[in-house]
Amino acid sequence: MKLPALLALLCPLAALAAPSDGRDCVQSPGKVIELCVYAKGGEAFYAVTRNGTPVLAEATLGLRFKGEPPARFATIGDVRRTASDSAWEQPWGEQREIRDTHTEMTVTLAGDTPFNKAVDVTFRLFDEGFGFRYDYKSVPAGKPVEVTEDHTQFRPIGHYTAWWYNGLGQERDEYLYTTTDARRVTLAETPLTLREDHGLHISIHEAALVDFPSMLLSNNGAGTYTAWLMPWPDGVLARRTGPFTTPWRTVLITDTAGQLADSRMELNLNEPNRLGPVPYFKPGKFVGVWWEMHLAKSTWGSGPKHGATTAEVERYIDFAAKNGIQGVLAEGWNQGWDGEWIDNGDKFSFTKSYPDFDLDAITAYARSKNVQFIGHNETAGAVVNYENQLEGAMALYEKAGVSIVKTGYVRHSGTIVDRQGGLEWFAGQYLVRHHALVGQVAAAHHIAIDAHEPVKDTGLRRTYPNLIAREGARGQEYNAWGKPTNPPEHVSILPFTRMLGGPMDYTPGIFDVVHGEAEVNRRVQSTLATQLALYVVFYSPVQMAADMIENYQAHPDAFQFIRDVPVDWETSKTLAGEVGQFIVSARLERGGKDWYLGAVTNDDARKITQKLDFLAPGKHYEAQIYEDGPGADYRTNPMAYKIEKKTVTSADSLLIDMAPGGGTAVRFRALD
Ligand code: NOJ
Ligand code: CA
Repeated sequence: MKLPALLALLCPLAALAAPSDGRDCVQSPGKVIELCVYAKGGEAFYAVTRNGTPVLAEATLGLRFKGEPPARFATIGDVRRTASDSAWEQPWGEQREIRDTHTEMTVTLAGDTPFNKAVDVTFRLFDEGFGFRYDYKSVPAGKPVEVTEDHTQFRPIGHYTAWWYNGLGQERDEYLYTTTDARRVTLAETPLTLREDHGLHISIHEAALVDFPSMLLSNNGAGTYTAWLMPWPDGVLARRTGPFTTPWRTVLITDTAGQLADSRMELNLNEPNRLGPVPYFKPGKFVGVWWEMHLAKSTWGSGPKHGATTAEVERYIDFAAKNGIQGVLAEGWNQGWDGEWIDNGDKFSFTKSYPDFDLDAITAYARSKNVQFIGHNETAGAVVNYENQLEGAMALYEKAGVSIVKTGYVRHSGTIVDRQGGLEWFAGQYLVRHHALVGQVAAAHHIAIDAHEPVKDTGLRRTYPNLIAREGARGQEYNAWGKPTNPPEHVSILPFTRMLGGPMDYTPGIFDVVHGEAEVNRRVQSTLATQLALYVVFYSPVQMAADMIENYQAHPDAFQFIRDVPVDWETSKTLAGEVGQFIVSARLERGGKDWYLGAVTNDDARKITQKLDFLAPGKHYEAQIYEDGPGADYRTNPMAYKIEKKTVTSADSLLIDMAPGGGTAVRFRALD
């Protein structure tokens, strides 16, 4: 027997060992993905195959620093390999138990400059993708360094379609996706999802974005993507002190779109829980004084149309209590909204209410009804003003028994003023640090944060389970006033793009989809049944029932689905889907026996025969089916829905019959 084979028998890790051609390679646990690293012509490269076929061409690695010429890497130094198979539990989430099966290879790149003398690159491989991160361990302890270039590339091989938008747009991440030949991508936000012409799916993103700028992807017109870090006002990309590690750069590679959505790699690449138990946060649904302001029926600011009055909020509390809804949000409760609030963010007080809003009375009333009042801090991007009040505000909310705060940063990207007066992008290192600070101070006061206009999600909820959800995409609010509103395809793009990063507070559940607008692209472009399906298709531990009370009271039978649908899951599966066309998701209630299914389609009517083999074998379920009614069409007849009940088992199939812009929501109530 040859020595390498003998070694492989004696020690399974030796099976991961490098071939002797100067390349150091590692295979994923099921040998699906193989990644090799090597030095050539003074550069360090990685390249990836999947099932033996090249999928990522050789691509460069490394950061560059102010005061140093680009380092040359003649060799790969020390190589260490490990493998791990473990499981961990989420305190709340789309899946209780998460399996983490990976292999890992850390190589030391030996460069010829001081900061690059020894750079550890750790590659962690899963069967559905991989992540890698740099450890700049040669930067002396405490020495400040400035990153001037990220030389990391991603080079998918083949011809791809991309779903993307310009990552430097003024509306941050609130854009519709454009679907183009991937070579047309200019500068994209991540997750950037690509589909190869024969069906392979790739999604490039990052995990554990901590104290570093957010990464965009710059394309060279030929499908080579280079990491592009959102700079500080002076052009420096990142400021750290030595030694330091970077976030993980991640690539998912799967056969289907559904496998992208079902990957838990993003969470596995984040550090375990650092906060310990967070009993103050319980996943839940909420209603609120919200949609009425977006429809201009009431105002955030004070005056005769002020929305967040004590009486109005208490009306919502009554409604929530009656319908088993855990929370009530009120926006516009605090001083600072009057006039041009986006331009005057530094006028916001986070402790002083408007006179017609009594925080103590409201929180006491909510408590008496077993409902939680959800706080709201719109900063208008005036982060210095917010930081100055943060401790006092969080202390006040804690005292009042408020344990969830929705934050907001409505300000054009690139115009956020930092402490030095510099103008910041919405997700540069300054804002990444700011959001971390808000999370920390909130945690110290037992408060969970749902951030709107946030830095994109990179799975930090694992480490900080008080970071419960974010917006970070074009949400339902655009269906009130967007020009145009979100087209039907939007909701079948989000689960395969933005939501690969983590839970999104989309705020589903608008029943009055027309809301008085004659033109379809000025109102919600979906059927009512779709609005129900979104509670299952989109994962978030906080789900708003976003419409006004009257509109739910007009459709109590459809509202029953919102009352029933859970927000915390034992397990979640994508049963079928194609990016931008449709998705069918199924989730099992955490600690329960009922399954829920949600399906949505784009402009096209669609019939899907869905096997119910995810249900427990041999058990009977009452399928409560909420679907598009006869003649339903998001353009002409969006309110046509029907509700049907029948008994099914796992041996049955369900015909999912969706109208254009339509959807289906099903509760499978366990009968035995
Ligand atoms: C934008 C948020 O996404 C929305 O939910 C909120 O109502 C407004 N900002 C006002 O804060
Ligand atoms: Ca928003």
